[in-house]
Amino acid sequence: MAERLAPPRHIAIIMDGNGRWAKKRGLPRTAGHSAGGEAFRRIANYCRTLGVEYLTVYAFSTENWKRSEEEVSGIMRLLAKYLQEALRDMEKNHVRFRFFGDLSRLSPELRKLCLDAESRSSDYHEVQVNFCLNYGGRDEILRGIKAYARDVKEGKATIEELTEAVFSQYLDSAGVPDPELVIRPSGELRTSNFLPWQTVYSEFVFMNVLWPDFSPEDLDAAIAEYHRRNRRFGGA
Ligand code: IPE
Ligand code: IPE
Ligand code: MG
Repeated sequence: MAERLAPPRHIAIIMDGNGRWAKKRGLPRTAGHSAGGEAFRRIANYCRTLGVEYLTVYAFSTENWKRSEEEVSGIMRLLAKYLQEALRDMEKNHVRFRFFGDLSRLSPELRKLCLDAESRSSDYHEVQVNFCLNYGGRDEILRGIKAYARDVKEGKATIEELTEAVFSQYLDSAGVPDPELVIRPSGELRTSNFLPWQTVYSEFVFMNVLWPDFSPEDLDAAIAEYHRRNRRFGGA
């Protein structure tokens, strides 16, 4: 067996293709989201066994509210169910949860689940899952700008002090290193507003598998592809 190379510290995944997975089977889109939830559980667990430190997953974007009210409410119901189950698994596996995105637009019940998961897991040191919910990269940057501007207005910060490192601390991802590897299954070749600030030097791997079918072997393949890349960061 080939020697396994160490995984990157931080892997980010755009969990895409649930709708097409369901359509192929003649099922409602919600069935695809449910299967996507299972894939999340499978891959989060696998990342934990690999020793990945951070797994950031894109679950619902600021643009996904454009979908039918039926699909959105189905997704929100599934998220609540998965978060409750994840909370139980998390206690067992010591997974730390964080949420990226504007949670203020979620229902109070779902928001409470997110905040409980964050606070109850804050001392855990197995893989940290950053769950992107009502997340948009541009929205994150704007919220960061507004927070910094408020601090300037209140005399807690100055315009001159603003550096890339300082501004990073105003983002949802404060304290989390940038992802080395971003994976998008489903065959789409775009980032759809995912982590624009954090991924300027990430390696992107686009794959033709639909997210509900995504397997540990697919993750191995993406990691192997990552190790074949030559990262230069602008150097010669
Ligand atoms: C990703 O799957 C889940 C969300 C965006 C909420 P999609 O629902 O986008 O699946 P496709 O792209 O239609 O197949
Ligand atoms: C990106 O997928 C968002 C998530 C996976 C949560 P979309 O399906 O919303 O992206 P587009 O519409 O194909 O760009
Ligand atoms: Mg999609």
